[in-house]
Amino acid sequence: DDGDHVPALVIGSGYGGSVAALRLTRAGIATAVVEMGMAWNTAGPDGKIFCDMLDPDRRSYWLRTRTDQPVGYFLGIDANRSIERYTGVLDSERFAGIRVYQGRGVGGGSLVNGGMAVVPRRDYLAEILPSVDAAAMYATYFPRATAALGVNAVDPAWFETADCYRYARVSRDQARASGYATTFLPNVYDFGYMRQEQAGTVPRSALASEVIYGNNHGKRSLDKTYLAAAAATGRLTITAQHVVTAVAPAPAGGWAVTMNQLATTGGTVATKTVRADRVFFAAGSVGTSKLLVAMRAQGRLPDLPAAVGQGWGNNGNVMVARAQHLWNTTGALQSGMPAVGIDNWADPAGPVFAEIAPFPAGTELWISLYLAITKNPNRAQFAYDSATGTVGLTWRTAQNQPAVAAAKRVFDTINKAQVTVYRSDLFGVNKVWGDDLTYHPLGGCVLGRATDDYGRLPGHPGLYVIDGSLIPGSTGVNPFVTITALAERNIERIIATDLA
Ligand code: FDA
Repeated sequence: DDGDHVPALVIGSGYGGSVAALRLTRAGIATAVVEMGMAWNTAGPDGKIFCDMLDPDRRSYWLRTRTDQPVGYFLGIDANRSIERYTGVLDSERFAGIRVYQGRGVGGGSLVNGGMAVVPRRDYLAEILPSVDAAAMYATYFPRATAALGVNAVDPAWFETADCYRYARVSRDQARASGYATTFLPNVYDFGYMRQEQAGTVPRSALASEVIYGNNHGKRSLDKTYLAAAAATGRLTITAQHVVTAVAPAPAGGWAVTMNQLATTGGTVATKTVRADRVFFAAGSVGTSKLLVAMRAQGRLPDLPAAVGQGWGNNGNVMVARAQHLWNTTGALQSGMPAVGIDNWADPAGPVFAEIAPFPAGTELWISLYLAITKNPNRAQFAYDSATGTVGLTWRTAQNQPAVAAAKRVFDTINKAQVTVYRSDLFGVNKVWGDDLTYHPLGGCVLGRATDDYGRLPGHPGLYVIDGSLIPGSTGVNPFVTITALAERNIERIIATDLA
């Protein structure tokens, strides 16, 4: 409440925020989490918490009057529809050159993501985060993260027979026949539950076209793992539908955190300021970077390092789809949780790690969809616009050309070997590459540059960054396991040295 004083305040409830919440509360510290999105725990009139991808309603998008699907076209026609403006679960935040998809709600990205829980390659982690002891990460923090996240693996024998993974087998077999290695992807979706979905013994979720607007069953999202464990300590409070707008030194010591309580239509209901001894920025790569850049420009935290707001990247994301031959059906039933990736990362001419993505339209479409992660070296910065009081991102769509080029090498090879072609009707009219969007915003407050080697903001005792903004633009794989493990590493040190 307005005027409260708390020992620790966490801004945002995604991976970084949830790790902070669990470890702080377990260390005996009362912790307040402030989250701009809703607490997704109440069913709507249809008996469901979340809507599916075939019939999106107001629950789907964050404050939009029209859906903004990542695959936005079909046969070149805009496939989006009008919705009621509401604080829905998926944000497609539009900057000049890119749409950045993010989860909004208690659990952050874990509510909307594909659940793929991939540990990065060790040599690549050492390359992107040279100041981090890789041995300790792989011995201690990755295992700690994957255990707490509830990561599990698909049963390979079941995978080979399940209808819902026909799409993945077709793409996998063609990739292999074209000379590429493939790999199973661990996931936080309960594969035991999915098996029962396939068998028809439980309500369907991953098999009912649920994923990017939330899963009603089966998914071990953060509200069910880290945050539930933190709540069990009795020391956690979560305040949903409150957006933090300012952080500045408090006259009485510590930090004054100002927030707006939001109505579901997006308007401000009330403004509150609380005082916190310690503040953990866990608003995600975009949220944390925007907030800190604005605070520096507005003179509230004028001495933040110049590196705050720099080093942002899209993890080299690019989407693409291939048209299959009529005899290669991809299946009307497709699990929303990807289970296989094409691993061509070792190729020095253009590393690519591509997930075989579902196209869960509920009908046979002969489409093979991919989300490719590439090693795009381009980076962008967040910049404050004093005229509008908003923070923009300098990324230009053309900066994603290296990603397109790397993915094109792989999929041209597959198309040639399989005598197939690209779909050019799904990302626009005559547009093969989904190159103007990312699911993996990373960087903006890079570890060891904007912060010290554990996420402390230099010169600002008690301010910490603990989310994807610490990672310099790329992980080479889907990022949430890296974000979680790095947060585990950093919070352990912070609790031991700063909070003891
Ligand atoms: P995250 O974005 O999770 O959390 C930040 C939270 O802070 C959000 O809840 C936000 O609402 C809140 N917030 C922001 N600003 C605020 C403010 N000013 N005040 C209060 N709250 C604020 N990754 C992966 O590894 N495997 C996968 O399969 C996928 N799939 C995938 C699909 C889709 C559709 C998306 C959008 C993303 C993925 N990802 C993914 C990416 C993954 O979800 C992402 O990397 C993490 O959620 C990032 O974790 P963070 O903790 O950095 O922020």
